[in-house]
Amino acid sequence: MLNIIICGAPGCGKGTQSDLMVAKYELKHLSTGDLLRSEIDKKTTLGLEAESFISKGNLVPDKMILDILSSAIDEQTKHSKGIILDGFPRNVAQAEALEALMTKLNKEITLLIDLHVDNQELITRLIKRGETSGRSDDNMETIKKRLEIYEKKTAPVSEFYKNKNKYASINGMGTIDEIFERISTVIDSKR
Ligand code: AP5
Ligand code: MG
Repeated sequence: MLNIIICGAPGCGKGTQSDLMVAKYELKHLSTGDLLRSEIDKKTTLGLEAESFISKGNLVPDKMILDILSSAIDEQTKHSKGIILDGFPRNVAQAEALEALMTKLNKEITLLIDLHVDNQELITRLIKRGETSGRSDDNMETIKKRLEIYEKKTAPVSEFYKNKNKYASINGMGTIDEIFERISTVIDSKR
C-alpha cells in the first residue's frame, strides 16, 4: 500500500499533483480543504463554522478535522491501493493523531512529499486562481496570513516525518509535468 502525505505551502501544487498521482498510482485523494469547502457549499453547521476560520487564513480546530477525516481514512484504506492526504496533517498535534489512527487501523504512512516553491511564485499562482476560484481565502491579505500560519504551524510537521525517515523534499518550481516526474521518481523508489 502507498499512503502518501503531500505537504507544502498554500499554492505549492498539492491538489494539482494529487490528481496526477491518483491517475498513475490508483490512490484515493483525501483533501481536508476540499472536504471543508464541500461542507461550506452545502451550508452545513460544520461548513459555516469552518468558513469563519478559512476566510481569515487560520486553521480550523483539530477536532473538526479529525471528525471528518478519521472515518474517511478508515473507509478509503480498506478499499484502495492507498491514499493521498492533502492538507493534513497541518500541525504536529494532527501528525500525532494520524499516527495513532494509522496504528489502530494497522496501516502505515509510506512517505511525506514536501513541495518547495518560492513565496513570490506561490502568491502569483494564488492571486491568479483567485480570479476564478471563488475561494474566500484567495486574496492578498488572507494569502499572507496563510503563508505565516504555514511557516509557524505546518512546516514543523516535516521534522516529524524526517525523524521517521519518511520524508522527501521536492522542488515544486517548473512545469506541472516536470514536478510530477520528480514525485514519481521518489514514489517509485519506495514501491
Ligand atoms: P487547503 O485547501 O489545503 O489550501 P492550501 O494548503 O492553502 O493550498 P491550496 O489548495 O490553495 O493550494 P495547493 O497546494 O493545493 O495548490 P494547487 O494545486 O491548487 O486549505 C484551505 C484552508 O482550509 C486552510 O487555510 C485552513 O483554514 C483549512 N484547513 C484545511 N486543512 C486543514 C487542516 N488539516 N487543519 C486545519 N485547517 C485546515 O495549485 C495552486 C494554483 O497554482 C492552481 O491554480 C494551479 O492550477 C496552479 N499551479 C499548480 N502547479 C503549477 C505549476 N507548476 N506552475 C504554475 N501554476 C501551477
Ligand atoms: Mg489544494
